[in-house]
Amino acid sequence: MSPVIVRTIDELRLRVRELRAAGHTIGLVPTMGALHEGHLSLVQAAKDDGHKVIVSIFVNPTQFNDKKDLEKYPRNEAADVALLEPLDVAIVWAPHVEEMYADGFATTVSVSGITDGLCGATRPGHFDGVATVVSKLLLQALPDAAYFGQKDYQQLAVINRLVADLNIPAKIVGCPILREVDGLAMSSRNVRLSEKGRKTAALLFQTLSQAAEDIDSGKSVETVMSRSSEALLAAGFEAIDYLEMRSADDLSPMTEFDRPARLFVAAFLDGVRLIDNVVVKGR
Ligand code: PAF
Repeated sequence: MSPVIVRTIDELRLRVRELRAAGHTIGLVPTMGALHEGHLSLVQAAKDDGHKVIVSIFVNPTQFNDKKDLEKYPRNEAADVALLEPLDVAIVWAPHVEEMYADGFATTVSVSGITDGLCGATRPGHFDGVATVVSKLLLQALPDAAYFGQKDYQQLAVINRLVADLNIPAKIVGCPILREVDGLAMSSRNVRLSEKGRKTAALLFQTLSQAAEDIDSGKSVETVMSRSSEALLAAGFEAIDYLEMRSADDLSPMTEFDRPARLFVAAFLDGVRLIDNVVVKGR
């Protein structure tokens, strides 16, 4: 069945009330559209948990620190809705910018600490934009649970923090990264890669996985990180924003493997910023 497309907060609240009155619980899947299988897996996870699903589609201007990136962000609502149809999504919440950020809007949700490094260091204001819009989406839909992918691992950590700090009564569910057959993490940005770039892009995950294996087998973190960076640049990546091992719990920097860790990378290819992360298992 086609989802109902809702554009106003009043209508969203009314429809959520109706669903709850009919005995349903609500699962929210926040997205910026350009949906792919990764998003659909979040919808499936919400359905598997027994919820009626709301998918929000909103390209949030406040989280883009680069205006060109915002302009180039792929938008195709009709195609997105068509992808959601077979999944029996109840509501597509697709407000216009003016509904989300009305005249006089002046509030920012800012999470400190966890946003200091990684994407927070190179994308000033990005996580304030994410934290603000996710707080709004959660307060608008008041879901029982909200579903996010682990590809944006730092984003997930920020959202967990804000939900705890602001006592927002929604369970945050982090879902596994979905990958293409060659290992590239699914992302709405992948469509902007050239044919050649798309092939090279697979090296991001392959290099990260090899680095995790090397650290697992006891090699020095510093050496592995610098060799991996060199390998990516030699393969054609234009620049590396970061390639780091961090605590899987609080994202604090790690130079030795002494607690649960993940490797995080952000690198540019064809002018497209790609991110990924993998677990370091340790010996
Ligand atoms: O991950 C995204 O697509 C966005 O950052 C989110 C969570 C929908 C907020 O705009």
